[in-house]
Amino acid sequence: MTKSIKSDSPLIEVKNCTKLFPATVALDDVSFTLLPGEVHALVGENGAGKSTLVKCISGEYAMTKGELFVEGEQIHLRDYNVREAQNRHIGIVHQEFQLMEEMTGLENIYVGHYSQKGPFVDWKDLDARAQKLFEFLGSNVNYNVPVKRLRTADKQIIQLARALALDAKTIIFDELTAVLPEADIQNIYRIINLLRDNGIGIIYISHRLDEIFDVCDSYTVLMDGKHIETGDVGTLTKDRLIQLISGRELTKVYPQVPDSVSNDIFLKLKNFSGNGFNNIDLTAKKGEVVGIAGLVGAGKTELLQSLFGNNPVTNGEMWLNGKKINIHNPKAAIKEGLGLIPDERRMLGLNRVFDVRKNATLANLNKYKIANLFMDQNKEYEDAETVMDQLNLKYSSLRQNINTLSGGNQQKVVIGKWIIADTDLYLMDEPTRGIDVGAKSEIYHLIHELVAQGKCVILVSPELEELLGLCHKIYVMYEGEICYETERENFSQEEIMTYLLGSGK
Ligand SMILES: Nc1ncnc2c1ncn2[C@@H]1O[C@H](COP(=O)(O)OP(=O)(O)OP(=O)(O)O)[C@@H](O)[C@H]1O
Ligand SMILES: [Mg+2]
Repeated sequence: MTKSIKSDSPLIEVKNCTKLFPATVALDDVSFTLLPGEVHALVGENGAGKSTLVKCISGEYAMTKGELFVEGEQIHLRDYNVREAQNRHIGIVHQEFQLMEEMTGLENIYVGHYSQKGPFVDWKDLDARAQKLFEFLGSNVNYNVPVKRLRTADKQIIQLARALALDAKTIIFDELTAVLPEADIQNIYRIINLLRDNGIGIIYISHRLDEIFDVCDSYTVLMDGKHIETGDVGTLTKDRLIQLISGRELTKVYPQVPDSVSNDIFLKLKNFSGNGFNNIDLTAKKGEVVGIAGLVGAGKTELLQSLFGNNPVTNGEMWLNGKKINIHNPKAAIKEGLGLIPDERRMLGLNRVFDVRKNATLANLNKYKIANLFMDQNKEYEDAETVMDQLNLKYSSLRQNINTLSGGNQQKVVIGKWIIADTDLYLMDEPTRGIDVGAKSEIYHLIHELVAQGKCVILVSPELEELLGLCHKIYVMYEGEICYETERENFSQEEIMTYLLGSGK
């Protein structure tokens, strides 16, 4: 790790910041400093106030109380907004996508800052500038197609390019890597080091604790909107960091895997094929956690989407509980007892218009119908509350719009929704992405509770450690096919890695 903190005056200084939302104290007297060339980790539980703090810096939120200094100059908060923050060279790469999907990358990067030739936009100049920018980033993302056609990692690069185009001196990454595959994360590390060497200051928010040790110089921990500690990463251990974040000693993140696997085969796939996967033979028993490992593009998500009826099946057989079935749409899947926790929560898992309660009970509305006419709202609230407490959801009211929950807490609602639905087979696609370390452990316990009750879980995760820690059995997919299968007593990390990379026998 290169350490190049310069002793110049701070880029950003937040003094005694308090931010109130209706019914929530999101930040309570927090102070924070960022130096040029410093990569500063901002960590804490879901709902701790991380995104709120950086949004106060980027001009999206107005502090309720407090002071902000940018490059030594005190900001008049009444006149401060996103535009002003950009003029002061502060850029942000958001946790949730904030690009205009129909516009090209180039348009997104320069929107509001187009070069002009007379009354016209000078596209040639913009293109030349973008080329330089992408050269600097060492990236070959196609910025001339509508953003909606790009993959997630490339959208993130566009967001980053947008920040850099504003000649940013401060760049904020809000959980950039939560949605990125490993190779792209390495690329981001490379870019971060490049930015640091150029004296740019970076605020880095992540729930992947290893990353803090890989790229950050310093850290600040928030909890319940309060500042807990700031220090040097060099003197920090992972155990201590976990303790600071969760406020408790968490010696065992992974619970003991229960002895719950029955002899009853619940799901059986034979030659199962569809868009992105081929000839899948797989069995999952009642009481079993079955892991699916694979690189990005291996077909894991596609397989789950087809099982749930979102994508067509082109060949092969699916058996549930000994009965051969065809599932053509999610409604049929839910009827058969399947539940899907999808990987793009913003797009697929939640209804952005509804409140927390409605989102939580959405998968199982029939349960709450009274004489097919009315909804039993009390029962809805009751169930939603029980499950959300179990998941330690941070919310002020079940009537709160889902958008006002922190990112990780939104993910908890997606998981809670299927628990309420009393599903038999849980299809989980990266369920703990963006979830803090304490809540991750709770979700692991919950997965094991589900299988102990005879349910069945199919778990897709990019983190091999998570699969090794939780599963009874792991399948490895490579280029759309299963190339390896192993049971818990034979788990070998090296062997799985070999197959993951496509170099197994
Ligand atoms: N627009 C809003 N309206 C009302 N409450 C909000 C709003 N935005 C955030 N909050 C609340 O403020 C608190 C802090 O949320 P914030 O998004 O800053 O958390 P976070 O640390 O970024 O969490 P995560 O790791 O889950 O992203 C939460 O209780 C959240 O529900
Ligand atoms: Mg956040």
